[in-house]
Amino acid sequence: MAQWIRFPEGFLWGATTSAYQIEGAWDVDGKSESIWDRFTHTPGKIYRGDTGDEACNHYHRYPEDVALMKTIGLKAYCFSVAWTRILPEGYGRVNQAGLDFYRRLVDTLLEAGIQPFVMLYHWDLPQCLEDQGGWPTRSVALAFIEYADVVSRSLGDRVKYWVTHNEPAVVSWLGYYTGEHAPGRKDLTAAIRASHHLLLSHGWVVPVIRRNSPSCEVGIILNVNWIVPASQSPYDRELASQVDGMWVRWFFDPLRGRGYPDDIVSCWTSTGVLPRGLDFVRPGDMEAICTPCDFFGVNYYTRTIVRADVLDNDPPVVLPAPEGPDYWSEMGWENCPDGLLAVLSRLSFHYHLPKLYITENGVSYSDGPDERGVIQDYRRIRYLQEHLVALHRALGLGIPVKGYFVWSLLDNFEWAWGYSQRFGLVWVDYATQKRLLKGSAYWYSQVIRDNGFAL
Ligand code: FCB
Repeated sequence: MAQWIRFPEGFLWGATTSAYQIEGAWDVDGKSESIWDRFTHTPGKIYRGDTGDEACNHYHRYPEDVALMKTIGLKAYCFSVAWTRILPEGYGRVNQAGLDFYRRLVDTLLEAGIQPFVMLYHWDLPQCLEDQGGWPTRSVALAFIEYADVVSRSLGDRVKYWVTHNEPAVVSWLGYYTGEHAPGRKDLTAAIRASHHLLLSHGWVVPVIRRNSPSCEVGIILNVNWIVPASQSPYDRELASQVDGMWVRWFFDPLRGRGYPDDIVSCWTSTGVLPRGLDFVRPGDMEAICTPCDFFGVNYYTRTIVRADVLDNDPPVVLPAPEGPDYWSEMGWENCPDGLLAVLSRLSFHYHLPKLYITENGVSYSDGPDERGVIQDYRRIRYLQEHLVALHRALGLGIPVKGYFVWSLLDNFEWAWGYSQRFGLVWVDYATQKRLLKGSAYWYSQVIRDNGFAL
């Protein structure tokens, strides 16, 4: 007898995308330039020089894409709004054509019986705001209030789920510290200031959205890898704790009212990164950041094994590495479903989170159509199934996860990797813009219909 994995009634099954990665239409209907437009148009920044100028042309093809979601049977769809379509100067003048696009999208979703989860920020800051200093500057957080107000006033009657930010850690560290993402700055001090203003802007807009969208849920999405030391060596453990401090605690601690983690603050103060300490924190900021919100979105993909690479590791006690090609995605990320359970139990125990959604989980494999035009992406099915088993175990432990979203609905523009990485349930032929459901989309569709699956 096959064992059935069943999810609670009303569990929300969804998929996620983001504006810059799918919309295309980068300069139409009054949209202004974003930092990702600028970054991708700068030679040498993106693999093979790819840009999101056209991407999946979802801006024009959204009716077809919503129809695909309906075919799959999605209950929810999480997408982001491009700030540059709404307030082309970053604040001030409203571009009605931009609001109209998202209103049409939301109405089409609702007609199809799909709950929209609207994310306000998935990394595409108006370039003009970057020119005024970007996220390291406090005034950008003020502009975000205006933007959130305009969007939530326009869609507040229809949308019941709002997300302020997606992955502020990636915005801060990859955008302003390593420079791998737009705007491509390499300045840790600026990156830390950016992180504070991202968190602050989140806290500031929670009440604004609540006011404009009665009885909605508002939350924020954070990316959490399962971070583990490669061995029991004190060096590996110390470094793993720093990595965890910077990527996880730096964001969750203040959001849960605990302030910034002392160990990280003193590390940055003593090494001269923050010579004047947290001088950018003003009275009232920390209280604003921890304004209670309704849910936390967690994006989970992989495990990070931290190795300090010092002599102390001789002989090393390295964690057993997974074997076989199926355990690595084409991004080079390890498939580690147990990590999802580990992350969820840690977050839920340590931070007492009221309600959780897995807002991104998925894997990059480039399996495309065979001679019959069929896409047999078994490795993706296996990845999703193993993560759902882990998630189901988390539910069994009482962890309040209310929904699960696959990254992504469509193959799309994968940031620094351009179009070389395909995460979609739906194949996109970029030359013709034809869409084709992959095997994983049919499999997911059955999971949604059965609210579970047989092992
Ligand atoms: C997440 C991003 C998303 C996508 C996936 C693979 O960090 O939020 O846009 O790039 O990774």
